[in-house]
Amino acid sequence: MAGVRRGVRIAGWGKYVPQRVLTNADLERMVDTSDEWITTRTGIKERRLVADDESTSSMATAASLAALKQAGTDPSQVQLIICATITPEYQFPSVACLLQSALGCQAAAFDLHAACSGFIYAVATGSQFIENGIYERVLVVGAETLSRITDWTDRSTCVLFGDGAGAVYLEATTGESDLRATWLGADGSNPSYLYMDSQARPSATTEGTAGESTCVNLLPPAPPQANVIRMDGREVFRFSTRILVEAVQRVAEQAAWKLDEIDLIVPHQANYRIILSASNYLGVPLDRFYLNVQRYGNTSAASVPIALTEAVAEGRLQPGHKVVLVAFGGGLTWGALALQWPR
Ligand code: UT7
Repeated sequence: MAGVRRGVRIAGWGKYVPQRVLTNADLERMVDTSDEWITTRTGIKERRLVADDESTSSMATAASLAALKQAGTDPSQVQLIICATITPEYQFPSVACLLQSALGCQAAAFDLHAACSGFIYAVATGSQFIENGIYERVLVVGAETLSRITDWTDRSTCVLFGDGAGAVYLEATTGESDLRATWLGADGSNPSYLYMDSQARPSATTEGTAGESTCVNLLPPAPPQANVIRMDGREVFRFSTRILVEAVQRVAEQAAWKLDEIDLIVPHQANYRIILSASNYLGVPLDRFYLNVQRYGNTSAASVPIALTEAVAEGRLQPGHKVVLVAFGGGLTWGALALQWPR
């Protein structure tokens, strides 16, 4: 079938969140913070954390099975798995490979690394395989165990993050595509705004000339506890409020939708204030944004598919609705998708 251009149908969606709940009251006992500060600055009341025997791939498996069940199909049908994550169990093999084994399917599999925008990038990528006629059935997952890369002594970050997974199952259609527009972007010029070190980073921080060691010089020396999230909250906040507005505007324009025609915006759940600010700038009422940041905090690549799945379960998305999925995060990266919800 290679070479035949087809549309993309959103055939299934599902989520998994761990049972363990960490409340703001729990955090008050861990760091110098308060429920009042966390609630007013972020909107977050609680988040979920993995149990010791859970992992990114175990949550990805649970979310994928839910999505496949919802689609009325089974793992044997999946031809390609893309998992968006920044918290793989291993540097390699990928979470997608572990997931392929857990599902017992014969599928190609790879991880996609675009931080909190990862799920948007992954749906855009998976859709290309369908539109180009390479595959007909693609499983796209966003899964994160951010609790394992959180510095639990740093109050400026540890109150923000949580664990979870979400998935969508995409199928080829000869009818009109559910995916109406895509807008992706990246700006790697300020990696220190939001990052986590890796063992592959050179220890040298000496000055380099343009084109050599540039990224190294943009980051401060690696701290003793390197494998944790570091963030300049104010800079990321500034970026996020701007890019969320631009991403929604761009993707709506590409889909030839007026902003007031959009039935639901499902944004990355990083901070209630970022979403409120976007609502004000766009002139789109807040009740047309889906919000669950209060329950889960920021789950990075898992955030949008979890929110999407809950929005459908709550009846917020009806057949034919115009929906925008939008995310922003480390990289810095951003992306938005315009979807006509399947009939
Ligand atoms: O998914 C990727 C994207 N990530 C984001 O979108 C995060 C974007 N950034 C944010 O959401 C916000 O910047 C934060 C919620 C992280 C912080 O809110 P803020 O209003 O920007 O606070 P701030 O960083 O300007 O800090 C204000 C004060 C500081 O104290 P001083 O310097 O004014 O005395 C902080 O030390 O709040 C202090 N602070 C805290 N106080 C109590 C920082 N964290 C806490 C805390 N509890 N957890």
